[in-house]
Formats: sequence, C-alpha cells, structure tokens
Amino acid sequence: MSAELVCALDDLVEGQAALAEVGGKKVAMVRLSDGSVHAVEDECSHGSVSLSEGEVSGCSLECWLHGSKFDLLTGAPLTPPATAAILVYPVTIEAGDVYVDVTAPTNV
Ligand code: FES
Repeated sequence: MSAELVCALDDLVEGQAALAEVGGKKVAMVRLSDGSVHAVEDECSHGSVSLSEGEVSGCSLECWLHGSKFDLLTGAPLTPPATAAILVYPVTIEAGDVYVDVTAPTNV
C-alpha cells in the first residue's frame, strides 16, 4: 500500500465529482451523501473524457459525453455504450484527510 494524501474531506462536496491527481494518475473523487468517499479512474473507458466532469447519480458516475454510468464500488459500466470497467482505488480517511492508493485498484 502506498496511499497518498489527496485532500481534506471537507474539500469534497457531497454529490459532486472532483478531479485529483494522485501518483501521476488522474482520479475522479466522489463524496456521497451517506458520507462515503470513492476514487475511480478519471478517464471514461469508452473515450478520452474526464468522468469528474460528469454527474453523480446514486452510487454511480455518469459520463457527460454519451451517458454511460459507472458503478463507484465496482467500476462496472451500468449503461451503454461503455462496456469496460474503470479502475476503482481504495480510499482511506484519517483525521479528516482523504488518502487514495492508485497502486492497488480494488477491481482488477
Ligand atoms: S466517452 Fe464516455 S460514454 Fe462515450
């Protein structure tokens, strides 16, 4: 594990995605209204589009270009046209700070 500090928990707005750069990788960070924080690969598996510019819907993140929704827990595409999963990264929260480990995706 080599989790890196990404931001303070308070920096993440509930129900919105935010772009972060962690270990040289672009990551979409999402804080849900249940208090959970998720980190997924920022690039849509269907095209070179930033998912952090998309909409959060339930426990999924929707690509703004063609509308595929990705499950924030599994990375799986829930709706077409995307067919491949995106990477999901482990998140830890310590003392109000958010850490992500991009070296250990949880869904591969
Ligand atoms: S680029 Fe994301 S669904 Fe097409």
